[in-house]
Amino acid sequence: MVGREFGATGVQVPVIGQGTWQLGRDGLEALRTGIELGMTHLDTAEMYTGSEEIIAEAIRGIRNRIFLVSKVLPSNASYKGTLRACDASLKRLRTESLDVYLLHWWSGSHPIEETMRAMEELVAAGKVRYIGVSNFEVDRLKQAQKALTREKITCNQVIYHLRSRAVENHVLPFCESQNIAVVGYSPFDQGDFPSPGSKQGKALQTIADRHGKTPHQVALNFLTRRNSLFAICKASKAEHVRENAGGTGWKLNDEDLKLIDDTFPPAGKDEPLEML
Ligand SMILES: NC(=O)c1ccc[n+]([C@@H]2O[C@H](COP(=O)([O-])OP(=O)(O)OC[C@H]3O[C@@H](n4cnc5c(N)ncnc54)[C@H](OP(=O)(O)O)[C@@H]3O)[C@@H](O)[C@H]2O)c1
Repeated sequence: MVGREFGATGVQVPVIGQGTWQLGRDGLEALRTGIELGMTHLDTAEMYTGSEEIIAEAIRGIRNRIFLVSKVLPSNASYKGTLRACDASLKRLRTESLDVYLLHWWSGSHPIEETMRAMEELVAAGKVRYIGVSNFEVDRLKQAQKALTREKITCNQVIYHLRSRAVENHVLPFCESQNIAVVGYSPFDQGDFPSPGSKQGKALQTIADRHGKTPHQVALNFLTRRNSLFAICKASKAEHVRENAGGTGWKLNDEDLKLIDDTFPPAGKDEPLEML
């Protein structure tokens, strides 16, 4: 598994990681398979009921090999609520610290200054290494940056798949200018992947055939084609995980990129980020 520097952290993180939203206990084997293949960037959240406990089992005895990310719910993101939510996540994950702690999406009820103050407190206490956000447009990213006094925003986790490319317009260039990692979620549109017989499916197959890869691997390669980009995919089947691990370590050429742009047009300039 290819790794690259995660924002300004200096830490090498696998380009393709594993998401765990709606991953049931039957997904434990798949998660372990992914870890063995180097997909050690694991994404969870207090919102993903049961997922932190499954990860705890998968990483028992190998915590130091894992890049572990969890998220606080915006409704819990007051100063005290953030501290409490982090402690609860650490307990469920049976670990002493998170590699990155994210605000899951912008909170309408708690000022960003409060959340970020708590985040910095968590870093000072050694419970969190790095601070991040999720589903943030540029104006909100700037507010989060301004709210921090000592630490930096290291990543923004956002929706990014072939049919949802709004991140490319403003968020990606801004993050690149600030050395913020962009972690794309739902890379397969939650399983609603172009079917083999469709025009989009055929285009992906054409590209896949040129490289001896599969359409899912083509999608992952495209979504991680820049140095700032990471992808997290969810798979509860071990054969899917094995396939996904092959999404990196090779390069799409200009002809492939043109066919992708023609088949999955970039978003309109003012299209906002979608959010799941
Ligand atoms: N920050 C946020 O607001 C946010 C929002 C949504 C998601 N996320 C994170 O991003 C992660 C990934 O996104 P997601 O769970 O929405 O969906 P996803 O990764 O886009 O798609 C998951 C679906 O794709 C299938 N799949 C995976 N690999 C496959 C392959 N090689 N061939 C065929 N099918 C394959 C899975 O099937 P099987 O399970 O049967 O293998 C599952 O049905 C989440 O789990 C979560 O950690 C974050």
